Parts: sequence; structure tokens; C-alpha cells
Amino acid sequence: MKVLFSGIQPTGALHIGNYFGAIKNWVKIQFDYRTFISIVDYHAITIPYDKKEMPERVMDMAINLFACGIDLEKTNLFIQSEVPGHADLTWIFNSVTPMGELERMTQFKDKSQQHKKNVNVGLFDYPVLQAADILIYKGEVVPVGEDQIQHIEFTREVARYFNKRFGKTFPECEALLTKTPRIMGLDGENKMSKSKNNIIGLLETEAEIWKKVGAAKTDPARIKKTDPGNPLVCNIYSYHKLVTGEEEREEISEGCRTAGMGCVDCKKIFVKNLMKVLNPIREKYENLKMNTHSIREILNNNAEKCRHIAKQTILETKDKMGINPVWKL
Ligand code: TRP
Repeated sequence: MKVLFSGIQPTGALHIGNYFGAIKNWVKIQFDYRTFISIVDYHAITIPYDKKEMPERVMDMAINLFACGIDLEKTNLFIQSEVPGHADLTWIFNSVTPMGELERMTQFKDKSQQHKKNVNVGLFDYPVLQAADILIYKGEVVPVGEDQIQHIEFTREVARYFNKRFGKTFPECEALLTKTPRIMGLDGENKMSKSKNNIIGLLETEAEIWKKVGAAKTDPARIKKTDPGNPLVCNIYSYHKLVTGEEEREEISEGCRTAGMGCVDCKKIFVKNLMKVLNPIREKYENLKMNTHSIREILNNNAEKCRHIAKQTILETKDKMGINPVWKL
């Protein structure tokens, strides 16, 4: 079985963009690989954060992922900082990575713009830690969104630099792109993201979601219900693609174009279909939440397994590099 690795930032609560854009796919393919999913808290600390919130953000992410269907036994879900080998391998990779490669990274450029007062070395080195995440397990397949392609290409390059200098050690991994196009926020302007305040939360109730969706923009040219609309430019219609079957979607599209169906009715169908996906997730979340003890235990066990694998890779790597004391016992 090939090794699959992916990471997710501990943002706390998830939104439907995370779910339909990434997690749903992880859930689907987790059984086809030897699967590792990491909650990347060491990545998260490269931008300003509230230390009081972080433990909750990490644990909540774990529970959310299990509630979405990440398998408690099959998938190795773990907390990045609990496996020190990631940081160890980062340092090793730092010494084969040209600065110029990191200077090109668009995510670094964006984030250093957003946090001008806190452009720390960790933020610059972020892609190297990401490469170490993947390669410490000799990951081959990395399911990510489009915004991470550059980091995966970079990871391949790091593997090449290392292999060339010290001998074949790491595989050249490939990105597995999720087919879902990027999911826009309720504002219809930005990618759905907590920081943009435009999300539909995965655990929100129907009433909460309806309040937001009811107020969301549709086709701007459709002012009155009797105006025909264009589903192709309507953000809500793009959401239908996530939860509504093809046949029903055809009817909605037709209704919109002919002004036979108003935006309110279209939105109602969307929320109804969305809740069919979200209700079971919320129920599972609430169940797991009553059992945080066993979640903590699973995360401990997984970190232990990961530490074991990571140790093997670090030993092999150091050996290849000549940082192995000769007075071995
Ligand atoms: N940088 C990724 C993101 O922001 C998260 C991440 C960290 C990751 N390490 C990874 C993704 C390794 C894939 C593989 O989404």
C-alpha cells in the first residue's frame, strides 16, 4: 500500500469548504492507502495566535475529523508537535534547501503581507516543515487543494536535493488534487475561510445556517423574483453542486432561468440537502465530545506509532549524511 500523508491546520471548528474541499475526499480514500493525517500545530504557530485557545483548537479539530468519518482505527491521525522527528528532519532539510527556493513561495509572500509585524523565520521555513511532515513517513500521495501545489513541488525538490547529495532516501511525492473546485464564502467574493467571516460551519444548526444563507447574495442581476436568473453566476447554485443530485439541480437551474423558482425556494432546497450531510456529522461530534478521554488515548497511540516510524527515518537519514557517531555500542 502506498503511503498517503496530509496535514490540516488546527483552526478549531471546520466549515463546509474544508469538508467538501478536502476532508470528504480523505474519508473516501483513507482505506486505499497507509494513511497519515496530521493536525499541524507547529505550522499554526508561525502566525499570531492565542495560546489559551490553541489546546481547544487542536482537540476540536481531532473530534471534527473523526466526526466527518476519519476512521478511528485505519487512519493514523496525530498531532504534529507530538512527533519530534518532524522538527528534527526540518533542520536536516534546512541544510539542503537553497534560500531562493523559499523566497519564491507564494504562501509565504501572502502571509508575510498579512502579518507584516510578525514575519518570523518559522513562517519562512514553513514549506520545509511541510516537506519533513510528508517525507518522514516517505509519503507518496498527498491529497491537497490547489493552493498547496507549490509546496508539494517544493517537497519533491527537497527529496531530489537530498537524494542527489546523500543517496536515494526519499520518494518524490505527488499531489492528489481534490476535484471539487474551490468553495467560495457566503460573501461570494473570497474563498470560504474563518478569517473572512464568510463560512457555513460544519456544526451549525439548521436555524443558524438558514439565517446566513437566507441573507447571502445570489445572481446580482436577479432583483425581483420575476426576473430570470443565471445559475452559472450564482454562488448558491455553486453550493447546490456539493449536496444536490443532478436531477434536482436541473430543475433548480431551469426554475432560475425561467423565473419559475425564486431564490428563497432555491436556498431552502440547498439548506435541506445540506442538513442531510451535516446532521449526522453533528450527532457523531456530540457523541465523541462526551468521550474526549478515548480520543486523547487514540491520539497518544497514534503519536507513539508515528514516533517509531519517524525514528527509523531519522536514523537512516543521519546515517546517510555521516552524522552517526562511530563509537556505536
Ligand atoms: N500547509 C498545509 C495547509 O495549509 C497544511 C500542511 C502541513 C500539509 N503539512 C502538510 C498538507 C503536509 C499536506 C502535507 O493546508
